[in-house]
This record gives sequence, structure tokens and C-alpha cells, in this order.
Amino acid sequence: MTDEDVLELQVGQVAAGGSCVARAPDGRVVFVRHALPGERVRAVVTATTSSFLRADAVEVLEASPDRVEEPCVYARPGRCGGCDWQHVALPRQRLLKAELVEEQLRRLAGLTLPVTVEPVPGDTDGLGWRTRVQFGVRSDGTPGLHRHRSHDLEPVDACLIATPDVEAVEAERLRWIGAQSVEVMAEGAQRVVHVTSRRRGSAQLPEVDAGLVVDGRPLRVPHGVRHEVLGRSFEVAAGGFWQVHPGAAQVLARTVLEVLDAQTGERVVDLFAGVGLFAALLGDRVGPTGSVLAIEGDARACADAARNTADLPHVRVRTAAVDADLVARGVGRPSLVVLDPPRAGAGLAVSRALVELRPRRIAYVACDPASFARDLKVFLGAGWSMPVLRAFDLFPMTEHVELVALLESPRSEAI
Ligand SMILES: C[S@@+](CC[C@H](N)C(=O)[O-])C[C@H]1O[C@@H](n2cnc3c(N)ncnc32)[C@H](O)[C@@H]1O
Repeated sequence: MTDEDVLELQVGQVAAGGSCVARAPDGRVVFVRHALPGERVRAVVTATTSSFLRADAVEVLEASPDRVEEPCVYARPGRCGGCDWQHVALPRQRLLKAELVEEQLRRLAGLTLPVTVEPVPGDTDGLGWRTRVQFGVRSDGTPGLHRHRSHDLEPVDACLIATPDVEAVEAERLRWIGAQSVEVMAEGAQRVVHVTSRRRGSAQLPEVDAGLVVDGRPLRVPHGVRHEVLGRSFEVAAGGFWQVHPGAAQVLARTVLEVLDAQTGERVVDLFAGVGLFAALLGDRVGPTGSVLAIEGDARACADAARNTADLPHVRVRTAAVDADLVARGVGRPSLVVLDPPRAGAGLAVSRALVELRPRRIAYVACDPASFARDLKVFLGAGWSMPVLRAFDLFPMTEHVELVALLESPRSEAI
């Protein structure tokens, strides 16, 4: 079988990555995009290995009742790879995400648990939520979004999952000669374009109604945006981490505060702290008799975190890579920990070091259910419990989901 062969397939359950599983006539597994469980489709093979194939459904012979017309013309086979599930009704998208989380928990943590994926408050149709979009740029200066599993770019007129504020910059319709990538971030009228050049100083930039940062050099204000969350203000410089959905930071912060239930005077460590979202809010909770140590690897994010917590002298920000040694020797004896790693998860060594550190509670915020489930197994194996697991649909139209878990030490009652 070769690329571009067409197969008729009976589509089975959803798999990590957002494709569904089917069987080719020769018995190999096929990961089919643009399909739904239970459908019968004709699919074009897009990649082959000795053990599995990838394919795009191009014709639906028997449709799922949850199939809808993709709102975006670019969310079709061979075009933009940014959205996985525009062809799926929103409630079913959330059920599919719940299935994926349940499967990873079962497979990697040995835990059978029903999961519910909750919408972010205010999200009605799953569109218009990306407060930042990164475009790749072709050598002729045309911006575009990446095709699925490809470096190829799909030029677009507009991105339907971007917010109207991001779209107001019209970056898709401009030429960015000499640029490698262009990221637009926007919060209301605050708009910033962050350009990375192919060669330093090579970018010839078009006129835009936005702040401008080129190769990390601020050229025109604003150089970042300011977000308000639960009564506090957070500055985020261009390129720094901030949750992309406008409702995400609030829903995650509320959940972390609720599950940790920090008391006045407690000691908290915020690992992978970004610009200090959780550190600042927990700093308010524990008050000046307590302390918060925020650890973050990116110096620019740390500078923002220091500014965002400047009114809280008991919150300290430290630039460091989170690893097992740091957890064992560099964070003191906290009673509460926030753990919000990138997709790779905290990792086995850091998880084991946290078990040894024995805080009372850990709030684990995870954007990858597989790495989370792998780490969770370490805690469960050491006698910890997970009394709360919440799942949020922070990335509608994609297969991505965000988790917040409360992990409780077996000794927490005694502390
Ligand atoms: C998912 S973000 C969380 C940020 C923050 N907690 C928030 O909610 O806004 C992960 C953060 O970890 C940082 N990071 C990635 N790898 C790291 C490492 N090995 N050590 C320390 N920080 C790291 C990234 O710079 C990023 O700010």
C-alpha cells in the first residue's frame, strides 16, 4: 500500500492525537483523520509504516449523527492542521476528550475513572477563542498555518478559532518578507506582533496597528499584554507563556485555589510558574506569614512574574530548571505544591522527588493526559490519592484537553 491509495474503512474508537482507529484490508492499523467512531468512510492514505498507516477521510459513506459541516473551509483533508475536530458537534468533542483521558488513566496509571470534560464558562460554539496565533512564513513572505504533521504552510484568509482582536491585526493578509514566524497576541485593544526573522535583522515588516517585538527586541509599544484574573493583574511579554483561551486562566486559577485550600501562613512552591498566575493568587491566600516560592525556567517569564508579584514580598521568584535535585534540595519544606509542567509532564524523577518531599497537597495542572497518567502512577504507587480530577475544554475544535488534579499525601491528615 502506498500514499494516495484509497481505502474503504469501518471507523472505530478515537485515539490519542485525535484520529480514529480502523483496520486496513492487510490488517494494519489505520489512524484516520476527519472521521468519527462508527462511520464508514473512503480515506486517502497519507503515510505508511510497517506497522500502521495514516489516512484522511475524504468521503463519508455512513455518517455519525454527531458529524457537522466544518465551519472553516481550511479544516479539511490536506489543508490546515490546527483543528482536529471541526467536523464534530461540540458536545461529542468533549465526550471524545473524556474517552481519551479515561483511556490514558487506565493504560498508564491503572486507574478506572469516569471523566467529564467541562466547557469553559462563556464558550458557546467553540470558535473565536485563541488569544494568540502563531503563523509560519514562506520564503516569499506569505504567512500560513501548518498542515497536519507537516512543515508545509496553508495560507489562510482568517482563522475562525482566533479571537476577533487577533483577527483585527489581519496578519494573514500581509507579507512578512524575511520572517520565519509571526505570532499575534491580543487582549482587547492591546495587540502585539512578535516576529522571528530568518536571519537576524532580515525582516522587512509591513505596517500593523499593534505593538512590535522582533527577535526579542521591543520596537513599538505595547511589548506585551495585561490580563486581569480574580482581581489581580498579570503582565505577559510577547513570547511568554499565558493560557490561550480567554476563560482559561480564571477557570484554572479558581480550581487550583479551591483544591489546595491554602491556609494563612502555609508554605507553597509553584513549579513551572510562568508569569506567576498561581504564585500571586496563592500569595494572597497564605498572606505575609506564609510564603510562595515560584520556580520558572524562562528568564523573561520570571521578570514578568517578579513584576506581577511585586506587591507581595513573601512571594519569591527564582529562575531555575525544575528537576529532581532542585525539588529534593532547593525548595525547602512546602506544605502545598502547584505543578504545571509543559506537555512532557513533570517526569518520573521529579514525581518521585515530590513524593519524598511530602507536601500535604499537590495541584497538578496538565495539558497532556498521557504524561500526566504516567506521573500519576508514581504518586498512586506511593500511597497518594487523587480525590479530585477536573477536565476542561480549553481548546475547542482540537483534541487537546486540560486537567487539574488534586493529589493528596497519605500523611496529609497527620500534618
Ligand atoms: C504550562 S506553562 C505553565 C505556566 C503557569 N503555571 C501558568 O499557568 O501560566 C509551563 C511553564 O514551564 C516553563 N518550563 C518549561 N520547562 C521548564 C523546566 N524544565 N524548568 C522550569 N520551567 C520550565 C515554561 O517556560 C512555562 O512557563
